[in-house]
Amino acid sequence: MSNKNENVKIGKMILSNSIFNASGVHCTTLNELQDLDNNPLLGAVLTKTCTLNPRKGNEFPRYYSNEKISLNSTGLANLGIDFYSRQSFTKPYIVSISSISDDEEYIKLLQKLNVDNVNGIEINVSCPNIAGKPQLGYDFERFDLLLNRIGETDAAKNENKTIGLKLPPYMDKSHFESIAKIINKYNFIDFITCCNSIGNCIILNDDGDSVISPNNGLGGLGGEYIRPLSMGNVKIFKELLDSRISIIGCGGISNPEHVKQYKKLGATAVQIGTYLQENWDLIGFL
Ligand code: DHB
Repeated sequence: MSNKNENVKIGKMILSNSIFNASGVHCTTLNELQDLDNNPLLGAVLTKTCTLNPRKGNEFPRYYSNEKISLNSTGLANLGIDFYSRQSFTKPYIVSISSISDDEEYIKLLQKLNVDNVNGIEINVSCPNIAGKPQLGYDFERFDLLLNRIGETDAAKNENKTIGLKLPPYMDKSHFESIAKIINKYNFIDFITCCNSIGNCIILNDDGDSVISPNNGLGGLGGEYIRPLSMGNVKIFKELLDSRISIIGCGGISNPEHVKQYKKLGATAVQIGTYLQENWDLIGFL
């Protein structure tokens, strides 16, 4: 069963297919972004999370994956906002952004994305690999203040822009309720993506060393093992968020049955991470 030719609406964007790449997977360079645009099974082009200035990221090896799981501490390696804001594609084009400095950086990034060639903005409030910085998605007061400020930007007021949040995984019922209450206050939020990788995980090789180098060997876990958690997040947010907010499922999706399950729980579309990294042709979806 393929998911081809199935139009879905997210905010103001129409995707001709309900699956696309998760940010971080094959989406940093122009060639990679063009590959996403040319892959007929994908409905949108989403960039690597970018920052104001280009970044080389962490030392290698910083990414590990096998057929079931992935671990990464890439360190926001990206070509900088001025590169991503200039590109345009045939499919809806979504730029993922994150601050590496203060919350003002989010505002500057949004200002640069108020251009016609960018259809969507995924605000990443859940990068687990920035040393010394609490994830915004886990800092409810700062999260609320930032959304308030973002709401004042021209990008948030632009009726042609689709804006969403990449959230971290939550596990405590009270945290879901707190974060949903904040998100529901802001009309400019069109979608949430549930969820980013689980931070601060470690996988050891046969020698007892981490499979990745940076961050003391700790990184964000993705793949098969996080699917039950991500699906739970989708279900709970579907119940708590206003119906105008679309939910994009992300976590451990490797075949159409998984897509069906995410949709049953309330997702409008899904992003493929670890599986796409290992199977660029999306063999399991044909
Ligand atoms: C990185 C990892 C993430 O999970 C994310 O959301 C953004 C960036 C990284 O390490 O590059």
